[in-house]
Amino acid sequence: MGVLYTAVQHAHSGLRWVVLILLIAAIGRALSRRKGGTVYPGKDKLALFGLISVHIQLLLGLALYLWLSPYVRFEGDIMGDPQLRFYTVEHFAGMIIAIILITIGYSRAKRQAELNKGWKTIALFYSIGLLIILLSIPWPWREGLMGGWF
Ligand code: HEM
Repeated sequence: MGVLYTAVQHAHSGLRWVVLILLIAAIGRALSRRKGGTVYPGKDKLALFGLISVHIQLLLGLALYLWLSPYVRFEGDIMGDPQLRFYTVEHFAGMIIAIILITIGYSRAKRQAELNKGWKTIALFYSIGLLIILLSIPWPWREGLMGGWF
């Protein structure tokens, strides 16, 4: 289990950068086109890859959450320990909400055939999702979480 844990943990940690870059790129493109008189193509590649990247994080995260991570517990004083509380409750809830918002934004935009509308939907839902992700990452400067850079 040790090797598997280390591998999944590093994949999950490193992939954050891919997620952040893809979401920022997708939002940037959507913002620049939101008044450009174009119909959202339904499968904008940046929005699609951004969506896929957060879904991969969901799968890796679930493996850590349900089986591998020692920082997730379902009994004992979870709320009294900042690190246990962060991973068991805060990181989990924040990331799930963000992933749901990004998924709703992607699928809603796909069905919007009016001029500019889908781009605005991507810009809005992906931006709120990105903000929640940024707030839910255990950045190294957040005390007591012992998060790394990758
Ligand atoms: C976009 C979504 C996500 C991002 C960007 C993200 C990012 C991260 C990062 C940066 C870490 C710290 C890794 C380290 O410093 O070693 C981490 C840890 C963790 N994440 Fe996520 N995460 C996401 C979604 C999720 C989800 C949905 C779950 C649960 C279902 C989850 C469960 C965990 C767990 C349990 C840990 C602790 C791993 C350990 O034992 O060190 N993550 N995550």
